[in-house]
Amino acid sequence: MNKQTIYWPPGEAEAGAKEAASVLANGGLVAFPTETVYGLGADARSDAAVEAIFAAKGRPSDNPLIVHLADAEAAIKLADRVSKLERMLMDAFWPGPLTLVVPVREGVLSPRVTAGLDTVGVRVPDHELARRLIAASGCPIAAPSANRSGRPSPTAARHVLEDLDGRIDGVLDGGATGVGLESTVVRVLGGKVHILRPGGITAEQLQAAVGGGAAVRAEAEGEPKPGEFKPGESKPAAEAPRSPGVKYAHYAPRGAMTLVLGDQARLPAAVQAAADEARARGERVAVLASSENAGAYRADAVLPLGPRGEPEQAAHALYAALRECDDRDIACIVAESFPEAGIGAALRNRMLKAAGGRILHV
Ligand code: TXA
Ligand code: MG
Repeated sequence: MNKQTIYWPPGEAEAGAKEAASVLANGGLVAFPTETVYGLGADARSDAAVEAIFAAKGRPSDNPLIVHLADAEAAIKLADRVSKLERMLMDAFWPGPLTLVVPVREGVLSPRVTAGLDTVGVRVPDHELARRLIAASGCPIAAPSANRSGRPSPTAARHVLEDLDGRIDGVLDGGATGVGLESTVVRVLGGKVHILRPGGITAEQLQAAVGGGAAVRAEAEGEPKPGEFKPGESKPAAEAPRSPGVKYAHYAPRGAMTLVLGDQARLPAAVQAAADEARARGERVAVLASSENAGAYRADAVLPLGPRGEPEQAAHALYAALRECDDRDIACIVAESFPEAGIGAALRNRMLKAAGGRILHV
C-alpha cells in the first residue's frame, strides 16, 4: 500500500469537503474530524471501499463499523425498525457522541460494515466538517477511528498521518477534536438502554433523557461487577448485549502503562514509587497526572491531563498524551486514576484498556 495521501489544511474546509466527498464517491478512504475522534470514512454501500478500511487499519474483519449520517431520518432508513425509546435518544442526543445499535435493514449497506451481524451502529456526528462531508457525499459513511488497529484513537490530523500516511487517500484537518474519547455505543433491548461502550454521552445524561420509565445499564466489559445481576433476574451477564470491539486490546501506547487506583490522598506517593522502580530498572518513565499533582513528580516526562474535578479535560488530553509517550520513547507509563463521575466513566474505561490489566491498588 503506497498511496499519495492528500492533506486538506484547516481553513480549506469548504473546498476540501467537496473534494473529499468525490474521493469517497470513487471508492476511496478519507479521514475526517468528528466531535469525538477522527474517523476513517468510506462509502458504506461499497464492499470494496469498506474492505479497504479494514486493510488500511489492520482491523479484524469481525469488528463492525459505525455508520455516520446527516440526521435521524437518514439513520431510520438504514434500520429495520426503530422503537420509541430509540427515537427519543436520537432526538435527545443527535447530532452528538451517541451511537445506537439498531436492527439493520437488508440490502442498504455492505454486509462488511456490520461484520455479518443483523444490527448496525448509527450516529450523527456534531462537527461542521463531518457534516459537510456527509452532505456533499450523499452517502452513508462507514467510519471507525482513523488509527492503526491497537493504537490510541487520533484526536488530531497529525495522529492520523502518523498511523495511516500512504495507506489512505486523504485527511481533512479540522484541528483538535473536542471530546477526545469515542462515542457512547448503546443498544436498546427490552425497554432498557444498555451501554456497550461508555463514551462522550454519559450514563447520567442518558438516564436523564429517558426519565424514570427506562433503565440505563452499563454492560460490564468482561466480568459483571459483583451484585450487578441479582439472583433470579431475567438477564444474566452472558445474555447481555455485547459489542464485538470490546474483546480486542485497544488504545494501547507502546510503553507498558500501569494505572494506579484507590485513595486519592495516597495516589501521589504510590505513583512516584512505581515510577522510581521503573527508573531503577533503567527504563524511561512518564507519569500521567492530574494538574494538581503534576508539579511534584520526578520522571523523564510528566504529562498533566487536567484537574481531578474536570474529567472532560483529561478525556480531551488522554490519547494525545499516550502518543506523546511513544514519541518520547517511554518504556513505562504510570498513570493516576481520575474520579469516575460523568465522562470520568469513559476515561476510566480507556485508561484500563491502555493499561491492559496492569493495575496498582493503593
Ligand atoms: O466516536 C466514535 O464512535 C468514532 C468516530 C469516528 O465516530 N468511531 C469509533 O469507531 O470509535 P470504532 O470502529 O473505533 O469503534 C466502534 C465500536 C466498536 O467497539 C464496535 O465493536 C462497536 O462500535 N459496534 C459497531 N457496530 C456494532 C454493532 N452492530 N453491534 C455492536 N457493537 C458495534
Ligand atoms: Mg477504534
